[in-house]
Amino acid sequence: MRIFVRDTHRSSGELAARKLGAALRRRPNPTLGVATGGSPLGIYGAFASGVGIDGIDLSEIRAFALDEYVDLAADHPERYANVIDREITTRIGLSPMNVLVPDGMAADLAVAAATYEKAIEDAGGIDAQILGIGRNGHIGFNEPGSSLGSRTRVVALTDATRTANARFFDGIQYVPTRAITQGVGTIMRAQTIVLVAHGEEKAEAVRQVAEGAVSSRWPGSVLQMHPDVTMILDESAASRLDLLDQYQAEARLLG
Ligand code: F6R
Repeated sequence: MRIFVRDTHRSSGELAARKLGAALRRRPNPTLGVATGGSPLGIYGAFASGVGIDGIDLSEIRAFALDEYVDLAADHPERYANVIDREITTRIGLSPMNVLVPDGMAADLAVAAATYEKAIEDAGGIDAQILGIGRNGHIGFNEPGSSLGSRTRVVALTDATRTANARFFDGIQYVPTRAITQGVGTIMRAQTIVLVAHGEEKAEAVRQVAEGAVSSRWPGSVLQMHPDVTMILDESAASRLDLLDQYQAEARLLG
């Protein structure tokens, strides 16, 4: 795991965009894994300004969402399919037909989850995966207690996650209680992963994920076992890391 600290969201977004772009250039017809939420917005802004994507035609790239709420109406603005369309697809110039999101309205959610997992496999897996991190260490919507080998499936959202996401709704009572998410094991199969985190409220999750025991208690901690993970943090999110000097020395070596 490589850890970089950047002092603005703009510079962390640009660094992430360059790392992701390099991963996308490694294969013809590459795939990008996209995350919703606040953390990756700087990455989409960087892509929209052309950072990191020399030689890449984003309209040709296939993109897979990490997750989707269950049972939000098709026209609900917070349905991730709509959020992604608004904040990612349109902004960075993906082709809507190349963007896949799990079907949170499916009559059979287990079938929808299995179909989604297979679509990722059929695309040859994900080349470059964008991640945020929940305050409780979730990646995607893999809440504490998730199997570290899990695949795409229906999950129950914790109260902590519903509370954190209530800012996007009119109140916590409107935040769905379930979601379909790529599994921890699904995420771990991505070739390159770039995780961004900002703010003091992420500092404990960042510490546990980077330096704690690998455990389903903090699902993101399994990223320690992945060969190509870059974490890009601001100073607040990095503030509880014991080994920060070491990461910074390595970051200087990598340039
Ligand atoms: C989003 C996702 C979540 C978020 C996480 C952090 O698709 O799967 O894991 O990345 O909840 O959210 P923000 O960035 O809003 O703090």
